[in-house]
Amino acid sequence: MFPRFHMDERARILVVDDEEVIREVIADFLTMEDYAVCTAADGREAIAELDRSRFDLVLSDLKMPNVGGLELLQEMQRRQLPTKAVIMTGFGTIETAIEAMKRGAHDYILKPFRVEEVVLTVRRALEERRLEAENLRLRDAVGLYEASEKIAASLSLDDILETVTSATRTGARADVARLMLLDHGHLVERSHHGDTTLSVDASRLLAQLDDGLAGVRLSGPDAESFGDGGDDAPGALLAVPLVEGAETIGLLALARRDGGERFDEGQRKLAAMMAHRAAAAIVNARLFEGQQLAIGQTIEGLARAIDKLDPYTAGHSDRVSIYASLLAKKLALSDETVELVRRSAQMHDIGKIGCHVNLNKPGKLTEDEYEDFKKHTIYGAEILGPIGFLAPLVPGVLLHHERMDGRGYPHAMPADKIPRLARIICIADSYDAMTSDRAYRAALPHEIAIAEVRRCAGTQFDAELVEPFVEALEEWRANRIAKGQSVAR
Ligand SMILES: [Fe+2]
Repeated sequence: MFPRFHMDERARILVVDDEEVIREVIADFLTMEDYAVCTAADGREAIAELDRSRFDLVLSDLKMPNVGGLELLQEMQRRQLPTKAVIMTGFGTIETAIEAMKRGAHDYILKPFRVEEVVLTVRRALEERRLEAENLRLRDAVGLYEASEKIAASLSLDDILETVTSATRTGARADVARLMLLDHGHLVERSHHGDTTLSVDASRLLAQLDDGLAGVRLSGPDAESFGDGGDDAPGALLAVPLVEGAETIGLLALARRDGGERFDEGQRKLAAMMAHRAAAAIVNARLFEGQQLAIGQTIEGLARAIDKLDPYTAGHSDRVSIYASLLAKKLALSDETVELVRRSAQMHDIGKIGCHVNLNKPGKLTEDEYEDFKKHTIYGAEILGPIGFLAPLVPGVLLHHERMDGRGYPHAMPADKIPRLARIICIADSYDAMTSDRAYRAALPHEIAIAEVRRCAGTQFDAELVEPFVEALEEWRANRIAKGQSVAR
């Protein structure tokens, strides 16, 4: 979007020459060609003019008193102006003209010149300037479009904040972008991008904002400024509030190093647009995070209910969810899938709530009792199914006793129909059952349980999961033992 080419206005040209006649003749002709023309008598006047307003083209003499054409070019380069420069020079100084081109001049005109020649050269330079501005606008627009898409698609607060600061800093050509969110009346920096030694004066920032942040206090030991408290005071500062509905939730601040240009109108609009997008996405991400927390707490509570049923199996749900996640991670499944495995495993025995059989009774279950017990898989699916956000856990809960040889329950499913999620929970569940005390037997040692898991590869368990499971489990145990934490004996 920047630098802006005056598309809907006339192109602005600055004519610089110490000879008044030449200056005026060129100015008259260019004005007749419908350009907006200003004049300056030397390089010094020209620089003052360039600092005052924006030009698309500078048409300058080379030899002038005070500040000459080459120095003017140098100053324009130092200011990183997008303005094109065309140098006018007398016969015999073509080497100087070449020198001027090296210093960033776009073209040169040899004196004495014909006016048509000047007009043609000016047209060419402005056309190039227009194309450059167009390309830049396009590049900025694409970058911002991509950033907006990314922000809208993400539910991760950290990712959103990172994208907002980096895209805004680049788009508005700032040296640093900082994003702060309000937290119980305090503004807390949550993300920054760029030169972090550049501190942002907090009172100057808040002064730029209206009442949205009135009464806000700044957090942190250095409440006077954001940043690392460096000595570098910024040259230009821009702050826009993040507003959602009627509420201000934070602010986005941009700064340029000392000597940097002020932020122009387009850059202010860009920052405001990004702040607007960011505010909506942040509110969304917070809702999502809250929802995820509520789901986690619900599962946690239900898992406690399962443990209350049977003191012998207390902690079973948690351990199975740990073992199942270890295997899911070992298989390099996506983060979302690992989370689904973890939650499904934690809920796998929820259906025991519906069983009439006394799970604490010593000795083996009778055939009838066993038939009742087997229904815990179906009961689990029936309990979770109607709860929308827990419904994705149903396959793991319903099918965790299915076997690869088709002799499992409740459906005696063939191997190819059993989802991997259920196969993972099956191994984790069986290993923990073997290594825990039961009403009818003491816990088996770890090595025996592992040997049993291996023996049942391909019949009860998915053969492809057995070795990854053993590997993941051994690594986890070694790590815990090294830290002095408990493991199954
Ligand atoms: Fe079970």
